[in-house]
Amino acid sequence: MKKSSLVVVGSGIKFLSHLTIEAKVNIEEADKVLYLVNEPAIKQWICKANINSESLDKIYFKYEYRLESYKAITNYIIDQLKSDKKICVVLYGHPCVYAKPALDAVCQARQLGYYAKVLPGISAEDCLFSDLLINPGSHGCQSFDATNLLVSKKHIDITCHIIVWQVGVIGTLRHAKIHNNKVGLDFLIEYLCTYYDKDHKIIVYEAAQYAGLEPLIKSINLSLLTTNDVSRISTIYIPPAKSPVQDKEMIEKLGINWIP
Ligand SMILES: C[S@@+](CC[C@H](N)C(=O)[O-])C[C@H]1O[C@@H](n2cnc3c(N)ncnc32)[C@H](O)[C@@H]1O
Repeated sequence: MKKSSLVVVGSGIKFLSHLTIEAKVNIEEADKVLYLVNEPAIKQWICKANINSESLDKIYFKYEYRLESYKAITNYIIDQLKSDKKICVVLYGHPCVYAKPALDAVCQARQLGYYAKVLPGISAEDCLFSDLLINPGSHGCQSFDATNLLVSKKHIDITCHIIVWQVGVIGTLRHAKIHNNKVGLDFLIEYLCTYYDKDHKIIVYEAAQYAGLEPLIKSINLSLLTTNDVSRISTIYIPPAKSPVQDKEMIEKLGINWIP
């Protein structure tokens, strides 16, 4: 095993409140911290916690396409490992959840013989389960990136809880600053209406980013969703639209008193 190591941590969604003790210790004890987070207070906190901290923003915004930025970030992390250091990378939320560069770096680092691991963080989905009082196991749960849902014509099981991410940047592979989301959002509504009634209630959700603030929870008829309702941090939740058919034969075979 080589001397350098890589630990990727998540800072959660709510400033400091979601940072685990394990993540904090890894940030404080690293030889170098690289961070890509979406909120200024946590940037400041990281820089105070470890003076050898460096933002990955400049690499992230250097390229026109997000995928190029992610590749460059992964390469940069791997490069840093070459100088015998304990590297800690911080991403917001959970560092693997709808986030690519650090996860790719951990896979590559392991292939290159470095010690590398990911520590879990609290994701937007975790916050959603708490704020909307949802047990994903009650109906099963499907989770999609909005653009991927459309492009791959993912099959939606309307008996499940459905979570749709990145609804503020549908159909763009570039950085989202000047993206007009209307076209993509209209396609999303059209696609969802092939599964649900147009007046099925959906929820636009934004978890609170600071302690003491409440989450944003907006209930809207599916067909009435507009670009004004979604921001770059919105996630959509769609409640189950019908109950699943129970397999009576299987219930008998299992010998259980099944209460759905
Ligand atoms: C690039 S992904 C990053 C997700 C992050 N790694 C996590 O664990 O939550 C960005 C997407 O996460 C969701 N998201 C981020 N912040 C959120 C928040 N405060 N409330 C609800 N959803 C959020 C949105 O769907 C957004 O488009």
